[in-house]
Amino acid sequence: MQTMKLNNGILIPAIGYGTWQTPDGDAVTNGIKAAVDYGYRHVDTAAAYENEEGVGKGILESGIAREELFVTSKVWNSERGYDTTLAAFEKSLKRLKFDYLDLYLIHWPASANRFENWEQINLDTWKAMTELYKAGKIKAIGVSNFKPHHLKALMETEVKPMVNQIEFHPGMLELQQETLDYCKENDIIVEGWSPLGTGRMLNNPVLIEIAEKVNRSVAQVCIRWCIQHGVLPLPKSVTPTRIKQNLQVFDFELDEDDMGRIDALDNFGYSGSDPDTVRF
Ligand code: A2P
Repeated sequence: MQTMKLNNGILIPAIGYGTWQTPDGDAVTNGIKAAVDYGYRHVDTAAAYENEEGVGKGILESGIAREELFVTSKVWNSERGYDTTLAAFEKSLKRLKFDYLDLYLIHWPASANRFENWEQINLDTWKAMTELYKAGKIKAIGVSNFKPHHLKALMETEVKPMVNQIEFHPGMLELQQETLDYCKENDIIVEGWSPLGTGRMLNNPVLIEIAEKVNRSVAQVCIRWCIQHGVLPLPKSVTPTRIKQNLQVFDFELDEDDMGRIDALDNFGYSGSDPDTVRF
């Protein structure tokens, strides 16, 4: 498995196994066991996915040592703030049955349209994350769904975010370009959630045509497109053949023409979850 280097020197496997919308219990546990079998070494979950117990069980039953795996979780919006974040972290660890996390993220920024003191709330949450990081309970810390104006205050603190996980798939380039550029300039690795647009990419004629040309599936083309943009994709699947297929993306390349055609897919497949306007 290829890796990328975070700004604190930690290596992160270049594809992660996504678990958003995978139910807790056998679905997620079996999915993780299959994923680890096929070679995934990176798993992405969150308190809000309500599947951390099954994720922990899958990892335990996978037979791979905990240290061989890179596991991410996230603090949910209702737990923002200093004390609440510390408590949320402990609850996540308990559900996962871990004694540390590789990466912990702020799931969504507090935003100006909902909170007058949004910047302070994000700083308080970040302070708790920083403490947990300095205490060695988390190997790396970061954020999710942050735009440059949300990231700015955090960049002036003692520990800078190492990761920003955002919605990223064909059709999102223009919307996310400013965030991509900002993260690149500030040495923050961008991870992509829903690299297949939660399935919305699969019937796109341009993607189908390119997939036929390179003799791959549309899913593989989407995942490869993320990688060639320097974004770390987190494809979700509970289907063993797809789990396996989604990792087979390091033995082909999209040429400039293919990349350009996919880049030009404009504002397509967007979930509509804008961090500045979401109501959760
Ligand atoms: P399933 O989990 O039933 O296999 P995203 O990663 O963008 O959130 O997309 C996840 C959705 O895409 C799920 O519905 C998943 O279905 C489906 N999916 C994942 N990998 C593939 C693939 N290789 N081919 C087709 N569909 C896929």
